[in-house]
Amino acid sequence: TQPVAYRAAMLYSLGDPVRVGLDNSFVWHEDGILVVADGHVQDVGPAPEVLERLPAGTRVVTLENRLITPGFIDTHIHFPQTEMIASYGDQLLDWLNNYTFPEERKFADRTHASRVAGLFLDELLRNGTTTAMVFGTVHKQAVDAFFAESDRRNTRMIAGKVMMDRHAPEFLLDTPASSYADSRELIERWHNKGRQLYAVTPRFAPTSTAEQLAVAGRLMREYDDLYMQTHLSENRQEIEWVKALFPEQKGYLDVYDHFGLLGERSVFAHAVHLEQEESERMGATDSVISHCPTSNLFLGSGLFDLPAAERHRIRVGLGTDVGAGTSFSMLQTINEAYKIQQLQQHKLHPMKAFYLATLGGAEALRLDDRLGNLLPGKEADFLVLDLAATPLMSARIQNAQTLYEKLFVLMMLGDDRAIAETYVYGECRHRRDHPQAQ
Ligand code: GUN
Ligand code: FE
Repeated sequence: TQPVAYRAAMLYSLGDPVRVGLDNSFVWHEDGILVVADGHVQDVGPAPEVLERLPAGTRVVTLENRLITPGFIDTHIHFPQTEMIASYGDQLLDWLNNYTFPEERKFADRTHASRVAGLFLDELLRNGTTTAMVFGTVHKQAVDAFFAESDRRNTRMIAGKVMMDRHAPEFLLDTPASSYADSRELIERWHNKGRQLYAVTPRFAPTSTAEQLAVAGRLMREYDDLYMQTHLSENRQEIEWVKALFPEQKGYLDVYDHFGLLGERSVFAHAVHLEQEESERMGATDSVISHCPTSNLFLGSGLFDLPAAERHRIRVGLGTDVGAGTSFSMLQTINEAYKIQQLQQHKLHPMKAFYLATLGGAEALRLDDRLGNLLPGKEADFLVLDLAATPLMSARIQNAQTLYEKLFVLMMLGDDRAIAETYVYGECRHRRDHPQAQ
């Protein structure tokens, strides 16, 4: 296809500001050009330079008063919980029993699953999220429907069927054998099909028998590039329960470790209450934490210590964890991440937060060779942001002096209203002002 050049201000990350230094951690063009062809970034740079080398006749789309960034990456979210977001009153274990399990029951019906998957993916795109790591339900047909909807939109998604063979209502249980067969079927059908990727998905230690966790470990060994996603040390009662269920293990993380579930493609949601030894083991195995700020506050789970994870060299991504999380917006997720660090006397720099939501998420998911910033050769998933989306944002950003201040204001005040356009593999999949033109 013909290349298209997009001209606007531009910002993308090059690395973790804490590790590479703030000045080396990003690229900023006041007036930049991004050239996209065949779903990939072909060229990027300051407009005067790129215009000189641009092939004659290339279409240039000039976006006035807009900022181009990479698409956001959400490292932990549940698509079947879309329509139960904001369920009142409970903390984790009661919330699962009272709200979550009854809602997930509906996904035995493939038609229901397809409809919600479509709503979910479109809501992600409306919020500027182009890649996510996604929990399904225990039903293989619901996960098959999810992948089909994602494949139609050509979004890069990592998803998996929940494995759960105890401590949930009968109607949501599988068995070690059926979870093995169903997972394998989905892996064969969807892993590396187009942009889709598969994650082995034991829900969390309390809802799997030792036999089923062994099956999860076996699946991870049978393929060399599968992901694994689960929950870890989210809630104090949950942690005590795991210790009672697996008395022969040293603690919560050791349960997963025992069954071979740690590693560089293993993503653990929350990890709010890790012991020192567990943090060390996470770092040593290159396992990943998905930090889910809005969920941790909403369920009253606890405060995640980001500098402690950095000290242990643990890769961290951000997750919304909808439906326990309260927003699909990664901007709102950053807003609450900032406050969680404030409560612990830590500062979350706006450029670090931006990194976590883009390149850091890609690194967490081992997708940074393909995604996370706008360097040539990357897949062209990017956003066109409107920093004047509301009168207040407009006034406040004009009143900000530096790039960091402007970025910070975007993160505190911004949400889906700031996402003017979302591009997936070079195609516009969301346009705020002309929704009918999608
Ligand atoms: N732990 C086990 N299942 C879940 C879930 O669905 N949401 C959250 N936040 N934690 C969990
Ligand atoms: Fe979750």
